[in-house]
Amino acid sequence: MLKVYRGELLHFLADPAKVELEDSYQYIEDGLLIIKNGLIEQVGEASELLPTLDSNIDVVHYENGLIMPGFIDTHVHYPQTEMIASYGEQLLEWLENYTFPFERKFSDLEHGKKVAEFFLTQLLDAGTTTALVFGTVHKESVDAFFSVAQQKKLRMICGKVLMDQNCPDYLSDTAQSGYDDSKALIEKWHKKDRLQYAITPRFAPTCSSEQLNKAGQLLAENPSVYLHTHLSENKDEIAWVNELFPDSDGYLDVYDKSKLLGRRSVFAHGVHLHDSECQRLGETDSAIAFCPSSNLFLGSGLFNLQQAQKFDVNVGYGTDIGAGTTFSMLSTLNEGYKTQQLRSEKLSPFQSFYLATLGGAIALDLEGTIGNFSKGAEADFIVLDYHATPLMDRRMQHCTHLSEKLFILSMLGDERHVKATHIMGERI
Ligand code: GUN
Ligand code: ZN
Repeated sequence: MLKVYRGELLHFLADPAKVELEDSYQYIEDGLLIIKNGLIEQVGEASELLPTLDSNIDVVHYENGLIMPGFIDTHVHYPQTEMIASYGEQLLEWLENYTFPFERKFSDLEHGKKVAEFFLTQLLDAGTTTALVFGTVHKESVDAFFSVAQQKKLRMICGKVLMDQNCPDYLSDTAQSGYDDSKALIEKWHKKDRLQYAITPRFAPTCSSEQLNKAGQLLAENPSVYLHTHLSENKDEIAWVNELFPDSDGYLDVYDKSKLLGRRSVFAHGVHLHDSECQRLGETDSAIAFCPSSNLFLGSGLFNLQQAQKFDVNVGYGTDIGAGTTFSMLSTLNEGYKTQQLRSEKLSPFQSFYLATLGGAIALDLEGTIGNFSKGAEADFIVLDYHATPLMDRRMQHCTHLSEKLFILSMLGDERHVKATHIMGERI
């Protein structure tokens, strides 16, 4: 069954930091997106493709908007939705005072389902169609999340948190129970419809070596699942890791020794990495989730995007709700730009939108499946509205180039500028 959409189209073909800018994207002022059975069939100029269509096919015309692939959030915690904007702490105290007590509630499947429903609605309203998501230590939290995501036909990745030390008893598993529960969840959910599983050690301080080794064993036994954790977010955290793991050569090496690096491994933050750590992430094809709103909110630091690019590390954007303060990828691009300004670096609007779409897909090893309009890709796409707010409308009147339009979208945009979200071609 064909579905056809007409409008201004933009998607990325490659990383603007690695190829000539003109070769990194396709932009069509009056384009057509042809979708067959939920997958991209063809993209091109409306003037060329319209005459090839049967006359009885409906064409949905989005005027005054920009059609692009859905955003990809490479790091977010659904159980932290209701504790967003908790005052006054940096990472370790924030976890202890706010996060852990909140996560306790997710032993209840029904509570998890209610929060997952709200969380996914917020994400979709903000134009994010795929996310890599933390659950809590409770396997019920993952059952709840996946059952809601499955009903909505979404491509989502989630996992049960592993944590067996330095955390409250009520949130603690053991190396063996964490392994067993994760294994059971992989069997139940991984590759069911568009769902995929991520083995999710919270971070080195809350995981014993035994638990990290078991996570590595489970990853080796299931090479198509993901590994999702936190890395080098905060200076006190890094000092603590060095104390807890004196035999390791730094934070990343703790994970490396347990065989947790690889093509499907995503490390959130990486704000304070040494060159040697970045090099290791690059050579193992691991990815970093850049979470600017969280890094600013918790006062963690300013991510060094240039360093990651220098060592060819895959990077995607993450909102990191509830340390992040917005579900909106557009607002996240705003914060990302400003963090790079504070480093005296320019983050171009093309690079920003690349990172939010194709860059995220590559970070999640999902290139060709989501992230752009290549033939056969899943048709999860959004329509951004240049005129949704009076301020953006007014600013757009003084704008000539695509680059400027994208920059304005990323500086002034938020949920209000996402006019429509489509999942597998269907507007939701
Ligand atoms: N490090 C360990 N757990 C967390 C968490 O829940 N949020 C953030 N931002 N960092 C973490
Ligand atoms: Zn996080």
